[in-house]
Amino acid sequence: MTLNKPSMDFQSRLADVAKQMETVLSIHLPKPSGHQMTIMEAMRYAALGGGKRLRPFLMIETARMLGHENEGTYIAAAALECLHVYSLVHDDLPCMDDDDLRRGKPTVHKAYDEAMAVLAGDGLLTHAFEILAMDAVHKDANLRLALIAGLAKAGGVHGMIGGQVIDISVSETDRDEALIKQLQALKTGALIEYAVSAGATLAGATEDQHHSLEKYARDMGLAFQIKDDILDVEGDAQLVGKAVGKDENLGKATFVSILGLEAAREKAAQLGDRAKGHLEPFGKHAQTLCDTVDFVLHRSH
Ligand code: IPE
Ligand code: IPE
Ligand code: MG
Ligand code: MG
Ligand code: MG
Repeated sequence: MTLNKPSMDFQSRLADVAKQMETVLSIHLPKPSGHQMTIMEAMRYAALGGGKRLRPFLMIETARMLGHENEGTYIAAAALECLHVYSLVHDDLPCMDDDDLRRGKPTVHKAYDEAMAVLAGDGLLTHAFEILAMDAVHKDANLRLALIAGLAKAGGVHGMIGGQVIDISVSETDRDEALIKQLQALKTGALIEYAVSAGATLAGATEDQHHSLEKYARDMGLAFQIKDDILDVEGDAQLVGKAVGKDENLGKATFVSILGLEAAREKAAQLGDRAKGHLEPFGKHAQTLCDTVDFVLHRSH
């Protein structure tokens, strides 16, 4: 399979979902008022006005491919985006990656202060679950419970947080391809896999469909993080919207650090091809998810 630049149709669909997510997030995030005014502003500052909204897009497009499209899916997608944004706010803190720029603007601890960034992250994390529990997500309370438990797991120590811990603690001598794969599968892969599996759950997917989509998301999620690491080396900070050249300085374990740029690029392309292969059972209905792989590999931000 060859990798093509995603079509204009795809780009406009992604832009359309991003625009709708902006509205849904704005409606569902707390409105600044009272003594909590500043934290509510900081939460909105972090979550609104930027980001590719890739995880919401994956959830919405997976559900749509399986014939399920309604406002509830957008609300569930907003919950996932809140949790993702919290992970970015905390990832940027001075005790973590110590970054000043995110989504083209000062990070939350720069625009506000460190305490407010910690609390705004906490606020976004907990708010994610408040949103996901809403009746409007899906009429079946047991299905909502499954979504809630899934997000807790994907964001927790067996998922994103677990990956972040390995990211900041792995020593130079321990690192090998298997460990980096595990680190990336957890810190980035878990939320991407959740996006796809939650979309499938909302749509009432069969076990076989879940299984194929899980494999798609796993390969695509890894390709996505490898591309993030490549952009850190050769990206343009203006376009990427965050500082570049940080991973090497911080001694981060990435595929680029052990394989070099060319082999990392090749690895991402192979994973992209494999991800597309897992979509074969869905035929032409999977065009958008297929195009998402090309987008992930060709993106400049
Ligand atoms: C950045 O994620 C953090 C990683 C897991 C690599 P994105 O590249 O999806 O960031 P936004 O949401 O578009 O800002
Ligand atoms: C962070 O990975 C993944 C998260 C859980 C936020 P990175 O540290 O590589 O993400 P960026 O490059 O700062 O967006
Ligand atoms: Mg980090
Ligand atoms: Mg970082
Ligand atoms: Mg990075």
